[in-house]
Amino acid sequence: MTAPAPVKPVPQRGDTPAGFGVYLHWPFCKSKCPYCDFNSHVRESIDQARWRAALLADLEHAAQRSGPRQVTSVFFGGGTPSLMPAETVAAALEKIDALWGLPPGTEVTLEANPTSAEAERFAGFARAGVNRLSLGVQALDDQALKFLGRQHSAAEALAALELARAAFPRISFDLIYARPGQGAAAWQDELAAALALGPEHISLYQLTIEEGTVFHGAWRRGELVLPEEEAAAALYEDTAERLAEAGLPAYEISNHARPGGACRHNLTYWRYGDYAGIGPGAHGRLSWGGEKHATRQHRAPEAWLDLVGRQGHGWRQVEVIAAGQRLAEMVMMGLRLTDGIARDAFQAELGGGPEDLLPPDRLGRLVEEGYLELDAAGLRATAAGRQRLDALLGYLLA
Ligand SMILES: C[S@@+](CC[C@H](N)C(=O)[O-])C[C@H]1O[C@@H](n2cnc3c(N)ncnc32)[C@H](O)[C@@H]1O
Ligand code: SF4
Repeated sequence: MTAPAPVKPVPQRGDTPAGFGVYLHWPFCKSKCPYCDFNSHVRESIDQARWRAALLADLEHAAQRSGPRQVTSVFFGGGTPSLMPAETVAAALEKIDALWGLPPGTEVTLEANPTSAEAERFAGFARAGVNRLSLGVQALDDQALKFLGRQHSAAEALAALELARAAFPRISFDLIYARPGQGAAAWQDELAAALALGPEHISLYQLTIEEGTVFHGAWRRGELVLPEEEAAAALYEDTAERLAEAGLPAYEISNHARPGGACRHNLTYWRYGDYAGIGPGAHGRLSWGGEKHATRQHRAPEAWLDLVGRQGHGWRQVEVIAAGQRLAEMVMMGLRLTDGIARDAFQAELGGGPEDLLPPDRLGRLVEEGYLELDAAGLRATAAGRQRLDALLGYLLA
């Protein structure tokens, strides 16, 4: 980091545009997908009462640290939160309301796997206060679903989507593309089928090979071959174009929405707002005492539960984020967004504009080469820049 980042007290940002989110992690799944390195585990039985009590205790602890905030979103992620008892979801939302306040209409998302979609469960989540469902459809092709180790067919995923539509005002679904052997034409067909479902929000992820997964072993042995970089880049470009034409432009690298349909919660991450991370392995960014903190929970589910029993919360690590690191995190998150980072946001977080905070020579070069745009509104990556974001960030923040 060559840029001198002036130290400035961190504002309490619950009432700033970046918002204040609460993330709850449910670490259990029915089965482990071979590509997934999320903190997700398969268990024969779960002591539901103990889990509920522990999540509520962890929420109380986070509120003690954060102080009063205006909650702008809640997100139940996983793992598979659609396997949670609806009473636990309801109890968590009541607790959030009691601790911080949860105004009616606040975005409350729950991630669901089509395998655990039942009308009654969805209705229970809706009654508990969930108003947005994010469904892991992953593929609309049965062979691809089998390859991805999914426990549902495409027809079951579509049925789950129908059930979700009846229960929730807002729906999103995920697809994984750039799968082995998936050509441009096949992906275009799948995308057309996805768009025909009329989504207001869709997350499209290129398959990545994560260390420690079954796919990683297969990839190392040469049994699984991903599309070449150029082919994957072409798929990405075609996808962006197609979605924009359909009225769902990308507002982030992998996320597309109709106007007004963006995920409020994820916007808080990308705009570098504060959020409480509750549950095993959850990360948080919380400001208090004029400093922003990175919080990290114990990752293993049972060890987390024991820790909450012993110390009243699951935090394993809390660190003050130094100014230079705050700048790096803000830039890494913000340049994922099509809108980039507003000048005001730089000013509020770090007390300067992008030109004061980032190395001018590198900034200038990236602008000149067409990877970044810098103007009165702020700093943003161009489409070409977003496609090579890791390399761009490596250079800009070196
Ligand atoms: C926590 S999971 C979603 C909820 C639910 N557990 C499910 O699988 O339906 C989050 C999303 O990340 C995506 N994902 C996970 N691992 C991935 C990988 N290696 N490559 C691409 N996308 C991945 C999937 O689209 C998945 O829906
Ligand atoms: S993709 Fe979803 S269902 Fe599959 S292991 Fe990961 S979190 Fe669990």
